[in-house]
Amino acid sequence: MDKKQSAGIAAASLVTNGMTVGLGTGSTVLHVIKELKRRHDDEGLEFIAVPSSFPTRLLCIENGFEYRDLCDVDKLDIAFDGCDRVDDNLNVIKGGGAAQTVEKVFACMADKFVIVADDSKYVRTLSGDVDVPVEVIECAWRSVQASLDKLGYESKLRNAGKKDGLVITDNGNIVLDIRLKGDEDLLALNNAVTLLPGVLEIGIFIGIADCAYVGTDNGCKIIYKNLH
Ligand code: 5RP
Repeated sequence: MDKKQSAGIAAASLVTNGMTVGLGTGSTVLHVIKELKRRHDDEGLEFIAVPSSFPTRLLCIENGFEYRDLCDVDKLDIAFDGCDRVDDNLNVIKGGGAAQTVEKVFACMADKFVIVADDSKYVRTLSGDVDVPVEVIECAWRSVQASLDKLGYESKLRNAGKKDGLVITDNGNIVLDIRLKGDEDLLALNNAVTLLPGVLEIGIFIGIADCAYVGTDNGCKIIYKNLH
């Protein structure tokens, strides 16, 4: 079985009748959605879906799910999302699609936040092999860049490509990307960066994920909180 499919199917088993279920975005969450549809049709599973993005809202409509908008609920019983990296301590990097601000709100609204990924996203410890986005309001980009420099992090504006200009987030802001060093205190970094005036969010999620379902060649490996 495909690794993402194996993670998605296993993770979807956490959903029980009557739950409000947050559905994130991406090719792995798609397998959670497909399995929830199968369980709805075959087992009569009833749930209310809450998509975190427009593409996932379209999938909810396509699959006939009862759904609510994120802004219409105050909490989620469970939520699923993909990631760019997840480590053994359930530290997560998100924001490949520059949507980390809404994704962090979404994740923090869930009683149980579940990462779904294949093992290409799994690492023992987060390091500097992928960009970590910092969403910044336009007028603050220079001052935030200077502050990031002082914290020891070189940053670059995220570009959509030579012809397309800067990436603009769903919230109308721009993104400065940094790379982790690999030996830093991630919570301290998260707190220092999110305190900078003009910063909305950083794409490191520390202490937020409750478990990760990671698809491997040998089935789905589950990483639980506080077991390491
Ligand atoms: C973006 C994310 C996405 O959830 C992630 O990229 C989805 O990946 P995939 O399509 O492999 O499930 O965190 O920052």
